[in-house]
Amino acid sequence: MQAFTTKGTMPSVTTRVADSEAALLATPFLAVLVPQGETLPASLQTLDAALGGAAARAFAAGDFRGKKDESLLTHPSAGVATRVLLVGVGATASASAVRRAAAVVGKRARLTGVETATIVVAAEIFAGIGAAAVGQALGEGVPYGAWHFSSMKRPPEEAKPILTEVVLAAPTDRAAFEAGHRVGAAIGAGQAYTRGLQVLPGNVCTPTYMGEQARDLAARHGFASTILDKAAITTEGMHALLAVAQGSAEEPRFIVLEYQGGEGPPVVLVGKGVSFDTGGISIKPAEKMEDMKFDMSGAAAVFGAFEMLGALKPKINVVGLVPSAENMPSGTAVKPGDVIGSLGGKTIEMINTDAEGRLLLCDALAYAKRFAPAAVLDIATLTGAVVVALGSTATGLFTPDAELEAEVRAAGDRADERVWPMPLWDEYRDLMKSDIADLKNSGGRAAGSISAGWFLREFVEGYPWAHLDIAGTAYSDREDATRVKGPTGVGVRLFSEFLLARVR
Ligand code: BES
Ligand code: MN
Ligand code: ZN
Repeated sequence: MQAFTTKGTMPSVTTRVADSEAALLATPFLAVLVPQGETLPASLQTLDAALGGAAARAFAAGDFRGKKDESLLTHPSAGVATRVLLVGVGATASASAVRRAAAVVGKRARLTGVETATIVVAAEIFAGIGAAAVGQALGEGVPYGAWHFSSMKRPPEEAKPILTEVVLAAPTDRAAFEAGHRVGAAIGAGQAYTRGLQVLPGNVCTPTYMGEQARDLAARHGFASTILDKAAITTEGMHALLAVAQGSAEEPRFIVLEYQGGEGPPVVLVGKGVSFDTGGISIKPAEKMEDMKFDMSGAAAVFGAFEMLGALKPKINVVGLVPSAENMPSGTAVKPGDVIGSLGGKTIEMINTDAEGRLLLCDALAYAKRFAPAAVLDIATLTGAVVVALGSTATGLFTPDAELEAEVRAAGDRADERVWPMPLWDEYRDLMKSDIADLKNSGGRAAGSISAGWFLREFVEGYPWAHLDIAGTAYSDREDATRVKGPTGVGVRLFSEFLLARVR
């Protein structure tokens, strides 16, 4: 199966800050980010006049107002740019609005079939949010919008040029813009890496493959890596992870990545790495089961955060833990009613073999203790119930720690990967009581995301902890102006904001 190249795992488009303004305009694709208004903003009038005045005419005709997600492609009558794409940023300039507009540019430029494009941002937007924020948002947004995955299709007969580079016009505050762009480009590359892993089918992206990716990531960036195979996982005593894996022909892996950039206790990121989730003996319905290749999205987000760390080398210590297994029904699979052990020592009664993510994660949370972490954040496509509660708009946040809750929420807001807190009140703990073991692995449908959170909490000891349920946000079944359908890379921007804010 390795005959496929998996080049989707690397960023396809890079952004670069232009050396001079003049060189920018001779381009097949010039994108202009425009704030919302009744007329073309003052800062763009000279540029528009040099291009023949189409933008001013579009405003006058009422065909373009600079609204969010609004865009207009023109073919200028003067100047050296072949195409000009006006993209609205909306009424209030913000990093999120610029990131979104940049993604619209990335997507349109890729679909147009140009090798390069350039972006000019109206000075009014720089004035509103600052050069660093704009630089970061462009570095993140362009590759986000341009991302797609085609390496498993035969090349089209009439191949279009492939977008490889987008050049950015620098404002007067060039140093701040470049610094922001450096951060954004690293995050953008991390997101692309994550999405490239997420999209891979279960027959390619197995636990073994994820272990190889982690080793490669570590080698490229100089991280320490430890990949435990089944024998080592058994020696370690990760009985819950082993129970999930025992029905599959694929061996499990437990992956440890360590980035040392500073002093002090590390932040530990834990990602659910279920390479495919059939449900096991409690098998899922056939409808949409193929989406369960995305059940390693948490793991992919952790890897993407490490891609960012490798590029930026911030002064912080971070550990990544990825327990990985395939959840399959078979003659050797774990059954409902079975009682299993765990690394933390608690016994677990298997009620539903489809509640497998918490089993992998509980062993990882017990393992995390040895790092004496400053904080542990876990991220997982854990429950269908969180999709019912929050849809695809927000990630569920579960933590008993008010300070950490505020920190994660703020990071999510800055990243425009919003999270919403769900309660972990004591009453919900009873849902996970078992008649014959310390815990059961499923508390039923009511409050399904919260009982899952409580299950995890039973294995948290001695460190601040927060759990992110990304079942609704990890992938999208709809295409929009900023992305193709499929993997979203959720978590990478949030983790980046969280980690970088701790060293700022
Ligand atoms: N991987 C699923 C959760 C999921 C559902 C992710 C939909 C993405 C989209 C998880 O392993 C699961 O099957 N959870 C069960 C738990 C239940 C059996 C207690 C669920 O949510 O139905
Ligand atoms: Mn499941
Ligand atoms: Zn799952």
